[in-house]
Amino acid sequence: MAADVWPITDSFAAEIGDVDLSQPVDDADWAIIEDAYNTYSVLVFPDQQLPTDQHVGFAQRFGSVDHSMQKSMDVEDERLPSTLADVSNLDRTGNVMTPDNRMIDFQRGNRLWHTDSSFKPTPANASCLYMKSIPPVGGQTEFADARAAWDALDPELQTRIEGRVAIHSIATSRARLGFEMTAEENANYPRVPQAMVRTHRASGRKSIYLASHAGSIIDMPDSEATALIDQLMAHATQPQFVYSHRWRVNDLVIWDNKCVFHRGRPFDDLRWPRDARRATSLDIGPTIEQEGLELPAQTAL
Ligand code: OGA
Ligand code: MN
Repeated sequence: MAADVWPITDSFAAEIGDVDLSQPVDDADWAIIEDAYNTYSVLVFPDQQLPTDQHVGFAQRFGSVDHSMQKSMDVEDERLPSTLADVSNLDRTGNVMTPDNRMIDFQRGNRLWHTDSSFKPTPANASCLYMKSIPPVGGQTEFADARAAWDALDPELQTRIEGRVAIHSIATSRARLGFEMTAEENANYPRVPQAMVRTHRASGRKSIYLASHAGSIIDMPDSEATALIDQLMAHATQPQFVYSHRWRVNDLVIWDNKCVFHRGRPFDDLRWPRDARRATSLDIGPTIEQEGLELPAQTAL
């Protein structure tokens, strides 16, 4: 039986049935999945049994695998291999983290609207988030359609941001919640430039590209840039652009970071285990290259 697509809205988010991702995906199913990915941007695959190899292998179909930054952070041994980003609230022994665990604060950074790995020169393409246990209340993940947000953006604002470049850094998003990166961690993740408007290579649709990681805009005073970033994020995350996913155990949800913002919703993370693990594929290159933009000479990031 071939994979089938069950739209959640006409153009954003769909459920995919009749596909078992623990088995190799054949060409016919892959064509259906890829087309749905390029159309809906968020896909929900319910009831999957995914060993790590199959989980990572599926992400790899969208691009080369992104390695988790946790390996380069000042933390104890990780619970998961570096091919998975551990977005759970569990420590390496599988217990709920205690308040003194530095990583609980780091994980709370995922509660701010963002797109994955935009603080890396080549950011993420598809994120594949697999849920092994869920809290009884809270802990949904929200997704915002940055293509629809672009389409609905005031034309004057469209003109103002097209061709512009924002500076992204993991330290920026973490500082918003009072989490301090060490000097060494910051040295591993220098600030990077990203196009503020992207064109989707499969659908041709434009989207706003920003995140909580973005803190400034090249050739714009900081006060103006911060206000503009806030205004654009507020616009893009209005309810009409958002799908909220209530997790079931063994859901795999994938999204296109090129044109989707997402955030995790709060839950009592010192009480309930939420075992969320993400395999992520990288995009094909830096966004400014893809958009044909050049940084002004001598730009200080
Ligand atoms: C992620 C992420 C949010 C959540 O996996 O990239 O931001 O709800 N997750 O776990
Ligand atoms: Mn994320």
